[in-house]
Amino acid sequence: MRIDILCLFPSMFDGPFSESILKRARERGLVDIVVHDIRAFTHDTHHTTDDYPYGGGAGMVMKPEPVFEAVDSLRKEFDLTGVPVILLTPWGRLFNQSIAYELSRQKQLVFICGHYEGIDERVSQHLATDHISIGDYVLTSGEIAAAVVVDAVVRLLPGVLGAEASLLDESHSSYLLEYPQYTRPARYREWTVPPVLLSGDHGKIARWRHEQALLRTLKWRPDLLEKAPLSNEDKHLLEMFKRQDNLQRDT
Ligand code: 6GU
Repeated sequence: MRIDILCLFPSMFDGPFSESILKRARERGLVDIVVHDIRAFTHDTHHTTDDYPYGGGAGMVMKPEPVFEAVDSLRKEFDLTGVPVILLTPWGRLFNQSIAYELSRQKQLVFICGHYEGIDERVSQHLATDHISIGDYVLTSGEIAAAVVVDAVVRLLPGVLGAEASLLDESHSSYLLEYPQYTRPARYREWTVPPVLLSGDHGKIARWRHEQALLRTLKWRPDLLEKAPLSNEDKHLLEMFKRQDNLQRDT
């Protein structure tokens, strides 16, 4: 996969893309990430990328010309027909794992990072083909959001994670939170690992983990359970958990 990121502060990506799994994926040629400085596509002596908003108001707005020219320069190298040009913006569609899967199937992605109070609307209307937000809060810049999206997408590319099995596990249970994990020592301070995990009984361990995933989802993200494909046994378990919880509250 080829990823082009257009932004005003390229060095913001130095850290996230130069460590651990993303670093290894790049070194192994599984993904080619190129960060472009939008400022390089200005023509005035001050390299102006923003201006006052028409109609007045606080803050500055990113000018359209350097952003369009940055994408034009990519078009000289690549046929961008069908390639998503993604504007990172707080009002975009809410990013999630299924969008990550969707993007991971593309051969190329272009990201435009917004800044300041916003970006000229013509970029959104006539350049971007997709608009993504990473959550209901406001960041200083689209760079941080782009790093999040790229990370979530790249780890899904074939060969990036060592154990492909862990991805399968993830997608099957994508509507449930992950079960609790433990490693050695079996006893730390006075806290012991649940005995079932030391039992060697893989059937029992799988059932315990599934139960824990249900329980954790009920406690932290009950909204996810509405979309989760639940068996009758799952529903029965959840009802039991809820009743126990109510009892504990009443006493
Ligand atoms: Cl994509 N950009 C900014 N500035 N803030 C955000 C965001 C994006 N997604 C959530 N908050």
